[in-house]
Amino acid sequence: DDNDLTGNRLQIPPLLEDQNPDPDIAAFTLTAQEGKTSFYLDQQTATTGYNGSFLGPVIRIRRGQQVYINVVNQLAEPTTVHWHGLVVDGHHDGGPHQDIQPGESWQPEFTVDQPAATLWYHPHFTWSTANQVYAGLAGLIYIDDAVSDKLDLPGEYGVNDIPLIIQDRNFNQDGSFSYQTTMMGIVPGQTILVNGTVNPFLPVNREKIRLRVLNGSNAQNFFLTLDDGSSFLQIASDGGFLPAPVSRKELFLSPGERAEIIIDFAGDNKRTQALVQNQKTLLAFAVSETVVSSEDIPEVLAAIEDIPVGPDVKTRQFDLESMGISGTINGKYFDMDRVDEEVTLNETELWTIRNLGGMMQAGGHPFHVHGTQFQIVSRDGRKPSAEEQGYKDTVYVAVGEVVVIKVRFTRTGLFMYHCHILEHEDNGMMGQFLVK
Ligand code: C2O
Ligand code: CU
Ligand code: CU
Repeated sequence: DDNDLTGNRLQIPPLLEDQNPDPDIAAFTLTAQEGKTSFYLDQQTATTGYNGSFLGPVIRIRRGQQVYINVVNQLAEPTTVHWHGLVVDGHHDGGPHQDIQPGESWQPEFTVDQPAATLWYHPHFTWSTANQVYAGLAGLIYIDDAVSDKLDLPGEYGVNDIPLIIQDRNFNQDGSFSYQTTMMGIVPGQTILVNGTVNPFLPVNREKIRLRVLNGSNAQNFFLTLDDGSSFLQIASDGGFLPAPVSRKELFLSPGERAEIIIDFAGDNKRTQALVQNQKTLLAFAVSETVVSSEDIPEVLAAIEDIPVGPDVKTRQFDLESMGISGTINGKYFDMDRVDEEVTLNETELWTIRNLGGMMQAGGHPFHVHGTQFQIVSRDGRKPSAEEQGYKDTVYVAVGEVVVIKVRFTRTGLFMYHCHILEHEDNGMMGQFLVK
């Protein structure tokens, strides 16, 4: 009975207004700003957000569209805005080289040239990415295309198509964020925010609900299940739809990864009342008695074009090692002035990523590559499981694991690869490559 529910109604980020009436062109303004947010009644937390006090609006764009974004920095410190998962030229990517000083603005532009997907955006300024994301700077990007138009999937924004940005945080007594790291490692947050909501519930009808989940945490992995142990369908990973829905009982997401899942409150998930992690509710569902009929989820979602590998394929190896909050890739700490790899445009490469472990909180690393969507070839020599067979931009590599990906770049410029544990990224575990 939803009257028994305590907590706060899940906040749904607004959709960012497209200021250009031409359907082939989109123009947006995104302002990074300081603010105050009430996560708890009677308490104010100093936060930052885009066009608001915490997190940012959803930027919704279409394949083929020409997109112009005016990014304004009203913070007291430099920032950048990186489009995570988007295939764009290096100088529009928003990495550490595209700094926006306080009071300045930046105007990236690009043509959307990739399949429908749920991507995201966040700061990427050297040494302050972790702090700026923790304070609230992050938002989602939705790409629509002809395939997503045709598929009969729940698609009513905020009603049965729900964004979920999951982040862990710690609070001080006075309501301020307590962001703690030590040389030894990262202090996990005791409170989980979903779209900036503490203890959230989501009202749903008895129908299929699509959740677009982003692990937007700095460092925490999430291992999500439903409270009644029932299964759900995963329909998309980082870079868009899977070839076919995958029935799952748990969803693992490391920092930076996304997944889209379908929960059927009229069918298989009739008894489901919450999305949980370790028996702790992350999101409660207030299920009404209103039955809304929805179409069956299609058995074929999208044809995934297999990235072709030639006979003399170029290979590279990336060895990850961490020590507390810092780490290296191939034994090197990040250097803005050093180009680590040179890559040829439009040529597929095989990249082998090895997690060699390390000292103090050695754990898995979510390895992320800018400017592309790649495919996983193998995980410890084995074919990846079904949910890892779609396009990815971030892949989790556990201690001792070896993951091979095939990757191809279709845009020129300077890009980053790094661990998406943001403290690792800020403290050395990043390299840069030039595509030409
Ligand atoms: Cu989410 Cu280098 O990025
Ligand atoms: Cu990225
Ligand atoms: Cu890492």
